[in-house]
Amino acid sequence: MEYRNLGRSGLKLSALSYGSWVTFHFQVNEALAVDLLKTAYDAGVNFFDNAEAYAHGESEIIMGRALKKLNFPRDTYCVSSKVFWGGEKPTQQGLCHKHIVDACHCALQRLQVDYLDLYFCHRSDPETPIEETVRAMHTLVMQGKICYWGTSEWSAEELKEAYKVSQDLGLTPPTMEQPEYNLFQRGKIEKEYRDFFQDYGLGTTIWSPLSSGVLTGKYKNGIPSGSRPNLVGYEWMKDSFESADFIERIKKADKLEEVAEETGMPLVNLALGWCLQNPDVSTVILGASSVEQLKENLKTVNYIDSFTDDLIDKIESIVQTKPN
Ligand SMILES: NC(=O)c1ccc[n+]([C@@H]2O[C@H](COP(=O)([O-])OP(=O)(O)OC[C@H]3O[C@@H](n4cnc5c(N)ncnc54)[C@H](OP(=O)(O)O)[C@@H]3O)[C@@H](O)[C@H]2O)c1
Repeated sequence: MEYRNLGRSGLKLSALSYGSWVTFHFQVNEALAVDLLKTAYDAGVNFFDNAEAYAHGESEIIMGRALKKLNFPRDTYCVSSKVFWGGEKPTQQGLCHKHIVDACHCALQRLQVDYLDLYFCHRSDPETPIEETVRAMHTLVMQGKICYWGTSEWSAEELKEAYKVSQDLGLTPPTMEQPEYNLFQRGKIEKEYRDFFQDYGLGTTIWSPLSSGVLTGKYKNGIPSGSRPNLVGYEWMKDSFESADFIERIKKADKLEEVAEETGMPLVNLALGWCLQNPDVSTVILGASSVEQLKENLKTVNYIDSFTDDLIDKIESIVQTKPN
């Protein structure tokens, strides 16, 4: 496993990490979570991603129980939570100081840990001043309840304001962003955040590296039963998988699979390995609903040397061209 600094911070995260969105609770019970976390940890993964919103807290409960059972030394792994969608009541949502504190305390209890290594604002909150959010995060850092705070899917303007407020008031700035990044979704990392990597050493923990599974090639003959768009509660995802944009992605995945085969690697490893080629990516968060999927995805580290300029050019020409 390769380890990368989380941006300019000293924290070394495994280049491949593992997250629990959709999977934990809906597809993965406690026993399977134990197997998945052990498989990841044994392969060198040292960061597990979670959020208060995932399965309404159940995902953190399952991860907490599994981590307790596995008893990995606490100083050998990192765990995250994200605050924003905590419940229906007005005080259970957004990024006001109160909800940030309450959500942190609830996540600590559910995950059964004394502190969170990474704590994210799951989205931006236009109804709370950014100064209030930065101050709340800074206070949690000072109290030792979180080590690093960051954002997820914030705009460049919002991040810029967070940096300005931190600098002006001497508060802890954000260390990392968590944007979507994959062969089809590249704007935030490749354009919007450019200055922040250079000027502030922003780290990134990127999500949906397989575009929710499209970059496995398994959607070419329709939606397989048991896959995430067929889960109860994820009907919205089925709609998006049937959209023109996704149909185009599925066609491109088909072409990419041919290139992967020519190179002698599975499509999943081509798609995940491509994300790792970008030095602004600190860690690629894997999603996997089975141990088999996870093992296959972790093999990506074996293919890093296959990414020649020629291969990157071939990938690029498929991704940039409209499929017929
Ligand atoms: N900050 C945010 O807003 C945000 C949003 C989304 C995700 N995230 C984080 O990022 C993590 C990863 O995102 P993601 O789950 O969308 O990642 P992804 O890698 O794009 O999709 C993972 C899904 O693809 C399918 N898959 C993965 N490997 C496979 C393989 N080898 N063969 C066949 N199918 C495979 C599985 O779905 P099936 O079960 O359908 O087979 C799996 O659950 C999440 O767990 C979460 O921690 C963050």
